[in-house]
Amino acid sequence: MKRRPIVGGNWKMNTVRTSAVALGGALAGEAARTGSGLDGVDIAVFPPFVYLEAVGATLKASGGGVLLGAQDCFPGPAGAFTGEIGLDQLLDLGVRIVLAGHSERRHVIREPEELIARKVRAILDANLMCILCVGETLAEREAGETDGVNERQVRSALAGLPPTHLARLVVAYEPVWAIGTGRNATPADAQNAHVQIRSVLAGLFGADAARGIRIQYGGSVNAGNAPELFAGPDVDGGLIGGASLKAEEFLAICRAAAQKAARSA
Ligand code: PGA
Repeated sequence: MKRRPIVGGNWKMNTVRTSAVALGGALAGEAARTGSGLDGVDIAVFPPFVYLEAVGATLKASGGGVLLGAQDCFPGPAGAFTGEIGLDQLLDLGVRIVLAGHSERRHVIREPEELIARKVRAILDANLMCILCVGETLAEREAGETDGVNERQVRSALAGLPPTHLARLVVAYEPVWAIGTGRNATPADAQNAHVQIRSVLAGLFGADAARGIRIQYGGSVNAGNAPELFAGPDVDGGLIGGASLKAEEFLAICRAAAQKAARSA
């Protein structure tokens, strides 16, 4: 089955209003340009909450179809949840896609798996796309637990999802030791982990459904290593942190995904 690659730019707690708008504008402007080399790839950006509205307006004005994304959400209806941001509020701002289970939220903020599962369900119930991030720490990798950790995180977040939600689901395999470290998985390691994750998805939802779910790689992807990391048949684009803060570099990564899609067309 042909899967359309998706590349996300997770800006994390970076940018201020002017740089966020400038970055979003540069990406959307290029995505809208005929001959940009970006056909065939979905592109999403995840600005800080406080700039979603400004970046969303810029994306809309430029055209080009870059998806507005949120880095997190609260998985429940409006109410007394000080400091949280709800899905109705994100929908109101034009958000189309939301991250869940990013390693910084799992390991730095200490979000439990049960909360991540509630977020995934709430995001998809709200008719939004969801990127579920999974991946092992260095200690888990060295203990030979990579596959077990990925399986546990995928199962705990996704078991019981209705089949109708799966078209809006993306999984990001992001080994924690590769995030922001400049140390990426080898293309073979990434492909192997993606195959294993897809087999877990097949166990949950059936082989046909699993073949349709996009699995991105994340962790120190840059313009130089993207072509080889994306080359694996089960690697459907990437989730990009540091390198997504520079328009030209992020666009080069998106083009690498588009070229892969063109090759496998
Ligand atoms: P990085 O971050 O590209 O800076 O390693 C990836 C991520 O956190 O999604």
